[in-house]
Parts: sequence; structure tokens; C-alpha cells
Amino acid sequence: MNPVYEKLMKCYESVREKIDFTPEIALVLGSGLGDYGDSIRVEATLDYHEIEGFPVSTVQGHKGRFIFGYVEDVPVVCMQGRVHYYEGYPMTDVVLPTRLMKLMGAKVLFLTNAAGGINYDFAAGDFMMITDHIMNFVPSPLIGPNLDELGPRFPDMSDIYKKDLQEILRSTAKQLGMKLQEGVYIQLTGPNFETPQEVKMCRILGADAAGMSTAAEAVAANHMGMKVCGISCISNLACGMLDQPLSHVEVQETADRVSGQFKELVTAAIVNIHKGLESIS
Ligand code: HPA
Repeated sequence: MNPVYEKLMKCYESVREKIDFTPEIALVLGSGLGDYGDSIRVEATLDYHEIEGFPVSTVQGHKGRFIFGYVEDVPVVCMQGRVHYYEGYPMTDVVLPTRLMKLMGAKVLFLTNAAGGINYDFAAGDFMMITDHIMNFVPSPLIGPNLDELGPRFPDMSDIYKKDLQEILRSTAKQLGMKLQEGVYIQLTGPNFETPQEVKMCRILGADAAGMSTAAEAVAANHMGMKVCGISCISNLACGMLDQPLSHVEVQETADRVSGQFKELVTAAIVNIHKGLESIS
């Protein structure tokens, strides 16, 4: 058996030995946004290190566990902490949790992250709905023998952040009277932040926000036929846009400041996605 698939199946069996819960929506919480877990009616939790072979994150501020439970009445699995490419994991490990959540039954992947704003119209504390991404600076998680059990060799990416889900997020924000920016997310390797010239390059390429996660997970999910949507919390303006150095502390402070609004938006969006799911192809 393909070792990537074998590892995934081992993890799946290990989860199923402990947890019998079928989520509809899988939610990934980004840097500083992990306390969304408090908004979930928790049925069970599973620490990543309890899952045999599962990649465990080393980043501060990232708890490493799955939460299984309900947002209002919607069954969700939530990742409190993700692993990043810059931690040294191969991309196949980075996306293993995403694939695992699909195997658990999740139909929708709702990605969140903290990102640096590249678009001059953005301010720290804004939310940006991801409309598309660029990830040519990191390897595709699909490199290697195709896992035919999961999806096709050459998957289409033309509607990766589903337009129907985008419309739901847009109308949810409107309903709440909340500003929701929109734009293209670029995934870079990290862990260093970009140089000012790299930020200029990203802007020329058409990116609106930069980060170190998310796009690879979206690709793996799309490969498996999940419906994907995403929101970035613009935790800072990217390097060189302000005359001050950038730190991870700033990223976490902004995420803390807007966490109340974030919870409101994500909860309402999950409820609306659940309502609209039947009609999304
Ligand atoms: N660049 C890349 N990743 C990030 C940033 C940034 O400015 N802020 C939060 N994650």
C-alpha cells in the first residue's frame, strides 16, 4: 500500500477506535483564533498525540487537538492547531488532518488563518474571505503517486473556494453588519516573514494577503471533493507596508482583539452553510 495512504488509514482507524462522531463541517482554527473552541457544544476531544502517527504542531498558541461537537445544531469537527510546512513536515503530513476529517464524514472544509495584509485597502483586524489562492512557492500536497482512493491525478481547481459558499459568507457578514474584505491568499513557506520586496512581488502577482498555511489544505480537500471556504484574519500589514518590524506577538494580539467578532461570523456562517448545503453542487 502507498505509505501516505497507509498512514492516513492508520490514523483514521485510531480515531474511530476512540470517537464515533460524524461531522458535517470541518473547521480549522488559525493562529490566535483557537479559542473558538469555547463556542462549540463539545461532545468529545482528541489530542493529536493520542492518534498514532499523527503530525503534532510545535507552534506556540496552537493547541493540538480535535474537538467534536455542535455549533448550534450543526455537527462539526474542529482542529485547534494545525501543522505547518515550515515545521519540517512533508506536505503529505501537513494535509493528513484535512484528509482525515473528510474520511470522518465532513463535507465542507472551513479554513481560517492569520495573514499579513498585502492589499493597501486592508487594515489589521479586518477579515478577508478567500476567493482564490496562489501556492506556487510551496510544493503541492498531491506530488507523489496519486492516491486514487482519494481523488483524481489532475484535479480541477477552477472553483476551489466554492462560489456558493462565498455567497453564503458574504450574505452572513452582511446580515451581521460586519465588514468582510475579499481577496487572494498566497501561501509562502515561512517561518520568516517576507521581506518588503517579496511583499511587493506578491502584490504584483495578485495576492491580497500572505500566510504560511491554508492553500495546501484547500488543494487536498478539493482533491477529495470537499467544498472549501476560508477566512483570513488580517493580523498585521505585511512587511514594509508600515515603518515598524513585525512579530508573532502582534499577530496574536490582533487575533485576540477581534476574536469576539470572529466567533460571531464563523458561527453564523456555519449555520447558514448547513442550511444551504443541500443546494450546493
Ligand atoms: N506574513 C506571512 N504570514 C503571516 C503574516 C505575514 O505578514 N501574518 C500572519 N501570518
